[in-house]
Amino acid sequence: MTNEEKIRKHVSSNMCRKVYSRSCQHCNHVLNKQLLYRLPSFLLLLISVPSYIIMPIQVMATSGNANTELPLYFGWFVETDYSSSFLNRSWKLLADTLQEIPDFLKDVQNFTQQTYVTDILLHYTRENPNEVLHCTAMYNGVYPNYVPGAQEYSEKQVVKDNLNQVSTLHSIGWILTPRTFGARIKLTKNQLLLWNQNDTEGNPTHSELKAKTSIPLITDSHNLRVYKENSTDQDPDVMGNFQPTSGNGSKAHLTLGCSPGVGAVTTGYDLVDLIRLEGINGSEVKTYDLPNGGWLRNYGDGQWVFYPTKQFLLESTFHGYESGTAGTCQLAASFSILCLSCAFAILTMFKQEL
Ligand SMILES: *[C@@H]1O[C@H](CO)[C@@H](O)[C@H](O)[C@H]1NC(C)=O
Ligand SMILES: *[C@@H]1O[C@H](CO)[C@@H](O)[C@H](O)[C@H]1NC(C)=O
Ligand SMILES: *[C@@H]1O[C@H](CO)[C@@H](O)[C@H](O)[C@H]1NC(C)=O
Ligand SMILES: *[C@@H]1O[C@H](CO)[C@@H](O)[C@H](O)[C@H]1NC(C)=O
Ligand SMILES: *[C@@H]1O[C@H](CO)[C@@H](O)[C@H](O)[C@H]1NC(C)=O
Ligand SMILES: *[C@@H]1O[C@H](CO)[C@@H](O)[C@H](O)[C@H]1NC(C)=O
Repeated sequence: MTNEEKIRKHVSSNMCRKVYSRSCQHCNHVLNKQLLYRLPSFLLLLISVPSYIIMPIQVMATSGNANTELPLYFGWFVETDYSSSFLNRSWKLLADTLQEIPDFLKDVQNFTQQTYVTDILLHYTRENPNEVLHCTAMYNGVYPNYVPGAQEYSEKQVVKDNLNQVSTLHSIGWILTPRTFGARIKLTKNQLLLWNQNDTEGNPTHSELKAKTSIPLITDSHNLRVYKENSTDQDPDVMGNFQPTSGNGSKAHLTLGCSPGVGAVTTGYDLVDLIRLEGINGSEVKTYDLPNGGWLRNYGDGQWVFYPTKQFLLESTFHGYESGTAGTCQLAASFSILCLSCAFAILTMFKQEL
């Protein structure tokens, strides 16, 4: 009998197994081995325990009180093919106008610090270039810090009735500032019923640009694949009007691009500021004819507005946008399952060893 076999025989006897006598040299040998194997599995079991305690709490918090689960925001999401073709249109309009109107080019070159039109276009990017364009109707914020009235909004009958309904967004113009490039939306009467944004909230301190953080440049963002387009003449009250929208719903917009370090939320502020300037209509405001019809106006400080003769009709669906925090629960679950299986695997290994 080898030493190993002796130990095995001794250990398999009930005495050695149950009493774990420290005085027994063989038992000590096995016990030490046992501890060595058990330590990682105990640790893993320990790690998985909190997940099992936290998970049911999380699930209860979200499903037990279903009312607290709100999307990050509600809005109109442009159908993919309309979204792509409208982006294409918008970049083309910007490129054409830069090439045709020297004053415009000079000012934009100055504030973007870019010389060439292609580089100016790349200066404005979208954070998620693969997402369709959207017009936010109501911003809720993130649980548990919802904005006041978020719960009430989601419970409104008109909101519930309009969820997943298709309607047409009317894009009646564009704005360009040192911060943002955006499309100006004129909401219909029915869309206004869903509108819940502050139409008078402009940029906090005008000249201040936020700290530069570089958003990855994705060059194919202006070149999505599928195209569908629907445009028509401007409504008579919009045509040739240098303040085509104001008041209720006038902040409605699509963010087409932001300069480096600027958040999409700024487009709405820029639009509010411009609408206020349109109302003042100072003598220093310059008007230029657009090459393909319509007007371009400069309100100073690099703030430009396009008043085209055509509007674009964008098929859209009203719904909520989830911020994607539900993933944490699943993550905790898979992590604890992983820990458990590891613990089992190690324990099984140890048993076979005996
Ligand atoms: C999209 O834009 C590119 C470049 O601006 C242009 O060549 C192309 O024809 C456009 N496609 C459509 C379908 O509008
Ligand atoms: C260029 O931009 C700076 C601010 O960035 C401004 O002070 C200056 O007046 C601008 N120059 C022209 C010619 O517009
Ligand atoms: C364009 O949009 C209008 C308004 O939604 C709709 O009535 C019309 O049928 C659309 N035309 C095409 C060609 O899609
Ligand atoms: C905006 O217009 C809609 C529809 O006419 C109306 O229900 C809503 O109360 C208005 N909101 C404000 C702030 O005036
Ligand atoms: C809208 O924003 C303005 C400026 O920040 C503020 O004075 C006003 O109280 C806000 N209105 C509402 C209804 O929150
Ligand atoms: C702005 O002023 C110009 C002349 O300076 C005038 O022709 C135009 O009608 C005015 N527009 C608005 C919206 O007041």
